[in-house]
Amino acid sequence: NMIHYYDFVLKEINFTRLCSSKSLLVVNESLPGPVIRVTKGDTVYVNVHNQGSYGVTIHWHGVHQPRNPWSDGPEYITQCPIEPSSNFTYEIIFSDEEGTLWWHAHSDWTRAGVHGAIVVLPSNNTGFPFPQPDAEEIVVLGSWYKGDVNAEVAEDLEAGADTPRSNSYIINGQPGDFLPCSNQSTYKWRVDYGKTYLLRLVNAAMNAELYFAIAQHSLTVVGMDGSYLKPVETDFVMISPGQTMDILVKANQPLGRYYIAARQFDSARPDVTDYDQTNATAILEYSGNYSTSSSTPIFPSSLPTYQDIKSALNFTNRLRSLADQDHPVNIPINITTRMYITVTMNNVVFDYEGVSSSALSSALNNVSWINQDTDVLLAYYRNLSGFYTTDFPDFPPSFFNFTALDVPDNATDTIQGTKVKMLDYNEEVEIVFQGTNVFDASEDHPMHLHGYTFYVVGSGGGNFDNETDPKGYNLVDPPKMNTVSVPKNGWLALRFKASNPGVWLWHCHLDRHLSWGMNTVFIVRNGDTPETSIREPPPYLPPCTGSSPIQLL
Ligand code: C2O
Ligand code: CU
Repeated sequence: NMIHYYDFVLKEINFTRLCSSKSLLVVNESLPGPVIRVTKGDTVYVNVHNQGSYGVTIHWHGVHQPRNPWSDGPEYITQCPIEPSSNFTYEIIFSDEEGTLWWHAHSDWTRAGVHGAIVVLPSNNTGFPFPQPDAEEIVVLGSWYKGDVNAEVAEDLEAGADTPRSNSYIINGQPGDFLPCSNQSTYKWRVDYGKTYLLRLVNAAMNAELYFAIAQHSLTVVGMDGSYLKPVETDFVMISPGQTMDILVKANQPLGRYYIAARQFDSARPDVTDYDQTNATAILEYSGNYSTSSSTPIFPSSLPTYQDIKSALNFTNRLRSLADQDHPVNIPINITTRMYITVTMNNVVFDYEGVSSSALSSALNNVSWINQDTDVLLAYYRNLSGFYTTDFPDFPPSFFNFTALDVPDNATDTIQGTKVKMLDYNEEVEIVFQGTNVFDASEDHPMHLHGYTFYVVGSGGGNFDNETDPKGYNLVDPPKMNTVSVPKNGWLALRFKASNPGVWLWHCHLDRHLSWGMNTVFIVRNGDTPETSIREPPPYLPPCTGSSPIQLL
């Protein structure tokens, strides 16, 4: 196994998109940022130099980091921010992941500019579980804001207002032909007729599930979130923020130009158009002899409309683990911890400049997470009290018809807290996430767990039924993911074995909801041996400079 070194320089640089300019914090002057490329089992050191004007952390999304929460990244969960003019070296330990993953800032909404792909190649002796592709292409989907999104978010949160909405989606940094002032810089992917490409797709958008398609080209999804799938042939995919997909694309169509398009899938309010529904596009362009000037690219007719929930579910319901001899599944069967977690939008009453006001909030089992100024990991490791409590509830405080049309808004009173769930080493955990229509605000919630992948054993519409629904679980080849959407007005069941001791964040990957508290933390206790315990902290960690005087020596 190899060791790789990267330097990430975070700096604000100027970008012009959608007819206006702004400065944006990015890594190594590029959007998306640099690709980390490793072979399964390698270790990577990334020295992050913060030349920006505010504190930042970086998370390696989907990398399990066995026993090494110190380098996981979420601000105030496993570390305090890397302050301007300082640096911190992350040690990223790859174990069983294989395929595409990604990295992104994990503080405020900085990840709008600070993100990039991670490619984990199979080791030479195993290779891909499909014919070796001729080449690869990385496509990162993102969100573009004309304004300074971090400043706007901070202002909005303080005032209890809604968070800002993006002005467009972008494909490898570009909005594409249908957006103002954009058609000169549309991203182009050049292909040779007859070749097969491995498309590595990342949804780095801030708040949107996205449909993605390439005109007249069929997509064969062979992996997701760093695990292999049984090949799924489709003419579009639905990808949630946080998710990554490995897709085979054959360049087998007549020489020409074809649109690649990403379109928001909005399960929340199918009747509104206040999100920008204009498609982000790129162009798949064949090399060879044909007149590019005369060939107008063809638009993908297979791209579902933005409110098409059926297509989204039809696609995600087809995903299955590869589950072959070389890639066995290992689904927990003797469940020792069962949790039933409601995912809700709420209101929370707070004090704004001396006046009692109410603000939008989000919660898990009616608890809306708040960060403290010392991270949970440090507090846990050093036994410091007062920074979190261990009473995150296993069940919602009350049971009612969660998905009824008329759930009373006061059916759940949200409390704010820093409540974590403790798990013993190697516990077998089942979680049922229950979507709710509290506040008439049911929508998909892409839930992400740090430090793990989990098996998605079941999902369905309406309220989870304890008697009948488990009978339909797939315990043979359920897909393995690190991020999965809890369906609008529905439920989703997943399982994992708590074999990675540490402090691991659970959250909705819509930043809008994360900012409002749709998160909690699982602390997995050490096993009995040093090899099953959290590793020693690195010699230096960014100090916590809040009101807390506690720092590492
Ligand atoms: Cu993609 Cu908590 O992160
Ligand atoms: Cu959410």
